[in-house]
Amino acid sequence: FSLQRYNSFGFSAVAERFVAVEDIATLIPLVNHCQQQRLPLLLLGGGSNLVLSDWIPGVVAHMALKGVEVRRREGTRAWLRIAAGEPWHETLEYLLQQGFYGLENLALIPGTVGAAPVQNIGAYGLELKDRLTGVEVYDTQEQRMRMLSPEFCQFGYRESLFKSEAPGRYIITAVEVCLSTEPDVMKLEYQALRETCEALAQGDIITPQHLFTAVCQLRQSKLPDPRLIGNAGSFFKNPYVSSTEYQHLKAQYPSLIGYPEGDLVKLAAGWLIEACGWKGKSVRNVGVYEKQALVLVNHGGGNRAQIEELAAAIGQTVEQRFGVKLEAEPRFYP
Ligand code: EPU
Repeated sequence: FSLQRYNSFGFSAVAERFVAVEDIATLIPLVNHCQQQRLPLLLLGGGSNLVLSDWIPGVVAHMALKGVEVRRREGTRAWLRIAAGEPWHETLEYLLQQGFYGLENLALIPGTVGAAPVQNIGAYGLELKDRLTGVEVYDTQEQRMRMLSPEFCQFGYRESLFKSEAPGRYIITAVEVCLSTEPDVMKLEYQALRETCEALAQGDIITPQHLFTAVCQLRQSKLPDPRLIGNAGSFFKNPYVSSTEYQHLKAQYPSLIGYPEGDLVKLAAGWLIEACGWKGKSVRNVGVYEKQALVLVNHGGGNRAQIEELAAAIGQTVEQRFGVKLEAEPRFYP
């Protein structure tokens, strides 16, 4: 079964077996079967944060669980359960239409709702964890459905328990978020975003609709549409350095970009990669996107080996020049 349409890099990976999972009643026996037979199992959402090998042994299960429901309301707050298989961006569009606000900054992020907690998706000053109140999972170890609290999930910058401690143990079936029916939850700290919102509002008050549109415009101006050019969003995480290290680098490279966070400074990896001359460069069928150096792209016919080679070459030049190690963001499978 070809997974080319199921991974945003558009790699022509082939799965030994492919199943679409439309309800939890199908999911549980499938997971148990794979455990008993010791078959590798890949739960696939939108495949937008994934680097696949050419051959995928075992079973690939495409999460197609659907549904959005309001669970509880209290004043202007509403708690919603959203099934894992819902497409992220379209769900945000729907929530906005229905008058549930608070997730606008995360518009146009590719992938499904169920994949969002894995790397705690974030953009333009908001992370999923800021709105998340629970993650519904099937715990393959205890063999039961569970509701995990945000604290339990250990969310950090592009990090969570699902990535770090127990990969494969928890299968995310739904998320629960707390949203607002009033536009009092808008986050406009990211400067370019505020400016775009102001331009859209033309002197009127900024609404969640403006915010949503502004995020879409910003992303479209910088990030490649995976339907047109294969990619997995930012390929590297922005690296943290100590403030001393940052001062030292800044003295040498005055245009270096960093954001202080406590005792540490988060460097813009896109800047580091661009400074090494990689922006817009291609090696065989893969390359560095011309408008955002943090994004690696598949020009067609690329594969995991080519991406790994390019990523290693970039990592090496960045480390030699700045003494900073880059860490890849997507998951490599198997
Ligand atoms: N920059 C460069 N050259 C580049 C790219 C960026 O100099 O080629 C500079 C920019 O000028 C800017 C700074 O680096 O001053 C930061 O760039 P940007 O605001 O575009 O954000 P980013 O740090 O590159 C992160 C996220 C994105 C998210 C944006 C906006 C990570 C790994 N990436 O990128 O998330 O959309 O911030 O909040 O944290 C993703 O994870 O897939 C993703 C796209």
